[in-house]
Amino acid sequence: MNESYVFYQGKIVEEKEVSISIRCKAFNYGLACFEGIRAYWDEENEQLYTFRLREHYERFLQSCKTLYINLPYTVDELIEATIELLRKNNFKTTTYIRPIAYKGADKIGPTLFDDDDRIVIYCQPMGSYTGKTELKVAVTSWARIEDNMLPPRTKATAAYLNSGLASLEVLRKGYDEAIFLTRNGHVCEGPGENIFMVRKGKLITPPPSDNILEGITRDTVILLAKNELGLEVVERSVARTELYAAEELFFSGTAMEVTPIIEVDDRVIGSGEHGEISTKIKELFFGITTGKNPKYAHFCTPVYEK
Ligand SMILES: Cc1ncc(COP(=O)(O)O)c(C=O)c1O
Repeated sequence: MNESYVFYQGKIVEEKEVSISIRCKAFNYGLACFEGIRAYWDEENEQLYTFRLREHYERFLQSCKTLYINLPYTVDELIEATIELLRKNNFKTTTYIRPIAYKGADKIGPTLFDDDDRIVIYCQPMGSYTGKTELKVAVTSWARIEDNMLPPRTKATAAYLNSGLASLEVLRKGYDEAIFLTRNGHVCEGPGENIFMVRKGKLITPPPSDNILEGITRDTVILLAKNELGLEVVERSVARTELYAAEELFFSGTAMEVTPIIEVDDRVIGSGEHGEISTKIKELFFGITTGKNPKYAHFCTPVYEK
């Protein structure tokens, strides 16, 4: 991807022009936070649509605030920069956008104040995250980080070591993805996605107080389930063995999109097939990512001028 353009410190430049010092605090201590955003390519209209760009940048600036990273940009300016960057790269395929805000100073010590704060945004084509339409997962032995430890809400880069260790453990054993429990044993989320369970016809998902990232896809799923399927959606703590008793399970996330889970810890979930509710939610989700549903068209921003 070295030939792509990136947004770096207020300018769109070629990726090869950007370098980071080996002494940079983001590299040495993980003092950085990021976002993951998708833009969906619509072949029919030959248009690229970013999905919920505003919500992603609102969360990004909130993460920056917690980490004391001061960027001189508003949400609107970041939206504008992202659209300009996508145009410059001229991608005509579904694309992943990765903004990172970081402590750039090359000083010893993990201090979060008086630093050289920087931003870079890069993007790259991205299809299916796992290449699979259904997943066999396992609960990891690594506990999820906590809000008062390394806040999952901030999408801090350092937090993804927790995710990496969990994925490493279960992927090496042949599973497709991990599920974290909190330190007190509540179901939390995947390494990069939220989790939903269907039990007795209700849609249930762990609450923010169980140390999840407040996912934008999660929010979209909740909206669609309530508004389009008339489902009751409950945010509450979930016990590990409730997963085994679930009628349906699925992950939600920008990279993961909506993907059914058919096994947990070698127990078959429901019938072992894609459940009815998961399938409907997945269809509804993909029906709104390219602006085709007028009710949710405000989630989609067209990139190319027509
Ligand atoms: C730990 C974690 N949980 C959940 C999600 C899903 O969030 P979103 O739907 O906003 O992508 C992500 C992805 O950003 C994540 O990294």
